[in-house]
Amino acid sequence: MLSVKLVQDNLITRCLGREITYYPATDSTNDDLWSLFDRGTAVNGQVVVTDEQRRGKGRQGRSWFSAPGLGLTFSMLLRPQLPAERLGLVSLAAGVAVVDALVKQEVAAQLKWPNDVLVNQLKLGGILAESRVAGEEITVVLGIGLNVNEQLGDFPEELRSHVISVQMASGHPVQREILLAEILARLEALQDGGMNDIVLLWMDRCAHLEQAVTYHGPDGLVAGYFRGVNDAGLGLIEVGGETLMVAAGDLDYESDQTSTYR
Ligand code: BTN
Repeated sequence: MLSVKLVQDNLITRCLGREITYYPATDSTNDDLWSLFDRGTAVNGQVVVTDEQRRGKGRQGRSWFSAPGLGLTFSMLLRPQLPAERLGLVSLAAGVAVVDALVKQEVAAQLKWPNDVLVNQLKLGGILAESRVAGEEITVVLGIGLNVNEQLGDFPEELRSHVISVQMASGHPVQREILLAEILARLEALQDGGMNDIVLLWMDRCAHLEQAVTYHGPDGLVAGYFRGVNDAGLGLIEVGGETLMVAAGDLDYESDQTSTYR
């Protein structure tokens, strides 16, 4: 069972994770946080974390599998000081924070656009940012799911050729509470820095920069080269001499092992 006390004992943040709600089991921590927000009881930086998520939501309407008691499954409420058109930077910043927290655990993690966390081209984690805009006020629920202490047999069979956990990558179990406290600290530091360096930090950690990619967008498949992200957080794909700026969708590239994950 995840210990909120252990997270808070290791927390060096000012705001993120100062309020933590723990549910032994729930449907979706993103939905839980929106419910608290709708009731007016959620505070900026609040985290909801669970040991067992039964109906985890992934990007593009997919589901997210979390192995009970083994993964790290949490969401946080953010009030980013960014114009709505630059909100994509929030999930890119989360990706950078997660990768750097994993690297500290000696796991060589990378990012796949828009925000998959990969190790050896296999999927270790995902990020789902949901936002609401009311006048000038923007609220984001940022959900993060990471495979931490699973062995291959803990995943459903259909996922096994695409996934990896921290334990599988490093050979040793990791205290989920320490990882959570570290991610929150890194994300808060990036937010406090004004998000200005996110683009370069994200591209430094990208698994497929300048590589040939296939983009699955609203109008079907497009082949091109991935050129990075811009300061609004949009992906840049060069297609026949023109640059597409894309906000959502999926990418495949040559060594990618996660494409059949979908
Ligand atoms: C993806 O890769 O498709 C994104 C997966 C995001 C999963 C996390 S787990 C915590 C939070 N609660 C959810 O229902 N989804 C996110």
